Amino acid sequence: MCGIFAYLNYLTPKSRLEVLDLLVTGLKRLEYRGYDSTGVAIDSPDSKNIVMVKRTGKVKVLEDAIKEHFSGGEYSEPVMTHIGIAHTRWATHGVPCERNSHPHRSDEGNGFVVVHNGIITNYNDVKTFLAKRGYEFESDTDTEVFAKLVHHLWKTHPTYSFRELVEQAILQVEGAFAIAVKSKHFPGECVASRRSSPLLVAIKTKSRLATDHIPILYGKDDKKQTSDQDTDSGKPQVLPRSDSTSEFMPEEKEVEYFFASDASAVIEHTNRVIYLEDDDVAAVRDGTLSIHRLKKSLDDPHAREITTLKMEIQQIMKGNYDYFMQKEIFEQPDSVVNTMRGRVRFDGNAIVLGGIKDYIPEIKRCRRLMLIGCGTSYHSAVATRQLLEELTELPVIVELASDFLDRNTPIFRDDVCFFISQSGETADTLMALRYCKQRGALIVGITNTVGSSICRESHCGVHINAGPEIGVASTKAYTSQFISLVMFALVMSEDRLSLQQRRLEILQALSNLADQIRKVLKLDSKVQELAKDLYQHKSLLIMGRGYNFATCLEGALKVKELTYMHSEGIMAGELKHGPLALVDDSMPVLMIVLRDPVYVKCMNALQQVTSRKGCPVIICEEGDEETKAFSSRHLEIPRTVDCLQGILTVIPMQLLSYHIAVLRGCDVDCPRNLAKSVTVE
Ligand code: G6P
Repeated sequence: MCGIFAYLNYLTPKSRLEVLDLLVTGLKRLEYRGYDSTGVAIDSPDSKNIVMVKRTGKVKVLEDAIKEHFSGGEYSEPVMTHIGIAHTRWATHGVPCERNSHPHRSDEGNGFVVVHNGIITNYNDVKTFLAKRGYEFESDTDTEVFAKLVHHLWKTHPTYSFRELVEQAILQVEGAFAIAVKSKHFPGECVASRRSSPLLVAIKTKSRLATDHIPILYGKDDKKQTSDQDTDSGKPQVLPRSDSTSEFMPEEKEVEYFFASDASAVIEHTNRVIYLEDDDVAAVRDGTLSIHRLKKSLDDPHAREITTLKMEIQQIMKGNYDYFMQKEIFEQPDSVVNTMRGRVRFDGNAIVLGGIKDYIPEIKRCRRLMLIGCGTSYHSAVATRQLLEELTELPVIVELASDFLDRNTPIFRDDVCFFISQSGETADTLMALRYCKQRGALIVGITNTVGSSICRESHCGVHINAGPEIGVASTKAYTSQFISLVMFALVMSEDRLSLQQRRLEILQALSNLADQIRKVLKLDSKVQELAKDLYQHKSLLIMGRGYNFATCLEGALKVKELTYMHSEGIMAGELKHGPLALVDDSMPVLMIVLRDPVYVKCMNALQQVTSRKGCPVIICEEGDEETKAFSSRHLEIPRTVDCLQGILTVIPMQLLSYHIAVLRGCDVDCPRNLAKSVTVE
């Protein structure tokens, strides 16, 4: 989804060219989120105007355009204080083109320019209101109304500060957004805010910050409402001004601020960040950052914490790999260990999940467990459902967040709802979380992104600790989500005597997992050969059942996402209820047939396919000659306990989709039309 990056240097000399370089690098770090166009805005050399460059396509195209546009020496003069804003756009309203790219401006004079992530749902009403007052619109976007609304408020309320103008505009818009605004009327100032879309502020100072929090400021509630003379009934109302005076100032004068959609864009500059909450308004003026709340609520904290990021810059670099996705697939022997680190004690067979341990007694008393997610995260729930049922002896319901929300699903106070999300920002998952929380359920977050909305809004949870995942198609997050849920199942069965043998078997298998993953990754060149056979086909059917059904769904999703080929994950038990009609000697089929309780049933399916002249690729266990005899093409994986097979079987699928994508010339890390973090419903 859209990415926001803004950079403000206060009393820290930087030329505009350096600022542009920083902005472009920031956008590159956000590329993985998915986008189709880009743009930047900086001050003109005389600081009296704002210049913008926008391009359709990749950040590289923007970078080249910037080199062309800003070649003059005047742009290399250092400026003490400056604010630049930048954006990657993932089209929602209006096709990807320069006209629709951000920043959007308030007027021909570029008085206010805005970058935005999310959707302003009442933009049509605001547009009508502004059009009546003479505003002409130049894009098809919802964002443009925001820039023009701020301008309108500025004209009608000349005494308002920049922050107050933005606050007033925010009060008139509905929907989800993260925004950053720059203005030529308020040089050196930046105002940013969020509602349901992620946004953080990062602070860079020469010496260590002397504080670890920033107080929250409120507008005074006793102020009378000032009504906008322009306001018609049913049109935007101007609400009370907030005029707080207390502010936070860094110890030293020189300071740099970064506003970004996520931490990967700032980590190379600083590790000190503040994650903004919904309806926070962050404003920088004279080098001073203040955070304001639009409305006072009883449970609001008094300050926002300055968090120290643990992430390392190397974690978001490609290293020796060609693509982030490839790197992330090959990181899995380490990422699975990181998920278990400090939690699983193999010597004492004990597991402690610090983030939920206090809630375990309550969870044990619950009516049912619900696992909710989207895409790959949903598949991790499918993959572990059977084990959760077995080890918790509770009903386990698995839901796609979007479908769950469509149904007004009954939720009870004694439900425990798990929200699984790599990014922690997926709008559907977050909405489902809020729905369940309002109904009194216990909310457990399973996320990879510390500080994300799902983390913060959960009662308790597990960080999967897979490290930053940049490739849009999720890989290592899946295996780490899988392990997190397995660990939860093990915790829940700790005191069940009858399950001890089973638990030991699983713990033993977990201790071997990293080595076994390494072994599976050695299949890479064999998988690449297989990809050569398959990449020109139109379709790929992936069949399996039991613990491996999730691998079929996840494998097919990977193939679709990355290669734009049709692919379907088929429950082998359903084969004769329809999919068998697709099978002939030309239809590519991949089947997972492992030595587990459903082996015989899988063999039946295999025979049904081969007797229709199908020639499936078989994923089977090492040395299983009997199964291998059914086809000339197979991938052998090491034997593990049934409930962890899904981790080993999904890796060849990740590699296969990756190699097919490369052979088909697809953009592996940023597949067309997709986004890493889907922050709109
Ligand atoms: C997008 C991504 C998928 C991901 C899904 C859920 O569609 O492209 O890779 O599985 O969102 O994302 P989440 O961050 O909630 O796991």
